[in-house]
Amino acid sequence: MSVRHFRSVTDFSPAEIRAVLELANKIKRKPKRYRKALRGQTLAMIFQKKSTRTRVSFEVGMFQLGGHALFLGSSDIQIGRGETIADTAKVISRYCDGIMARVYGHATIEELAEHATVPVINGLCDLEHPCQTLCDAATLVEKWSPPGTFDVGVLRGKTLCYVGDGNNMAHSLLDTGAALGMNVTIVAPVGYQPDAAIVARATLLGAQTGAVMTVTDDLQEGPRGADALYTDVWASMGQEDEHAQRLVAFAGYQVDAAMMARAHPEALFLHCLPAHRGEEVSAEVCDGPQSVIFDEAENRLHVQKAILVTLMG
Ligand code: CP
Ligand code: NVA
Repeated sequence: MSVRHFRSVTDFSPAEIRAVLELANKIKRKPKRYRKALRGQTLAMIFQKKSTRTRVSFEVGMFQLGGHALFLGSSDIQIGRGETIADTAKVISRYCDGIMARVYGHATIEELAEHATVPVINGLCDLEHPCQTLCDAATLVEKWSPPGTFDVGVLRGKTLCYVGDGNNMAHSLLDTGAALGMNVTIVAPVGYQPDAAIVARATLLGAQTGAVMTVTDDLQEGPRGADALYTDVWASMGQEDEHAQRLVAFAGYQVDAAMMARAHPEALFLHCLPAHRGEEVSAEVCDGPQSVIFDEAENRLHVQKAILVTLMG
């Protein structure tokens, strides 16, 4: 059987995504049951970019599953001196049971997966952040399910509105909402809207699951009535030089109390973090009663463990 990868949300079918979320919830409730799930296995973690949550949750997750994780900063391994992605993938596959990589171009993830003989997990690239958005879905299911239950079906017919840059987060939220029957509205300025091919594939899948994908620059109507508001930084990793110009482009896009007031009165606020309070979100919303950012961050651990068990178990 060929090796399974998680390069993109679309590598898993809707049924497989539901299964990962349900497994994550089981692992969260009874972590000790999974203490030996990946006993003796090693995950290589390649990082071309910084990370707090992804690094810590994968490393701790592997440990809690009975395995081990190796942190490989790209400037510390030979990739940093020009060794090819293909050779790196082939060599690491001889030592390790899985590879998680955080990189710039999506092509690097594809190339790792093409040459690795072990599962490759996308720990964020410029195009997508699939581990994050499965975690976001798990967080919403948790919050919207009746107490004591975890029903992925609660996402159906709900609307998540993402306000800001049409970046990796926007793309993976579109794929995730489409798979799970949750409407996704992206409110982004013209010039910073999501990749048309990803919008098209999410729209196509959404037509099968009953979810509507919308892209708009209407800051008044876009968030109206949404069940969850989501935002992310205006300048992602690798775009630091564009920060000043992006502050101008995204003027008015801050998720603040006035924007929350246009959403459903009990709308949740999510952010993948790190957050810049006073830029894409006001401190009042980020740290306010509707914000679930720390439960969301915690769920990275549980969902990552479910992804690891699914691919490597
Ligand atoms: N949300 C997220 O991926 O955080 P890190 O960049 O800290 O890993
Ligand atoms: N869009 C952000 C997400 C960080 C988790 C970035 O790529 O830097």
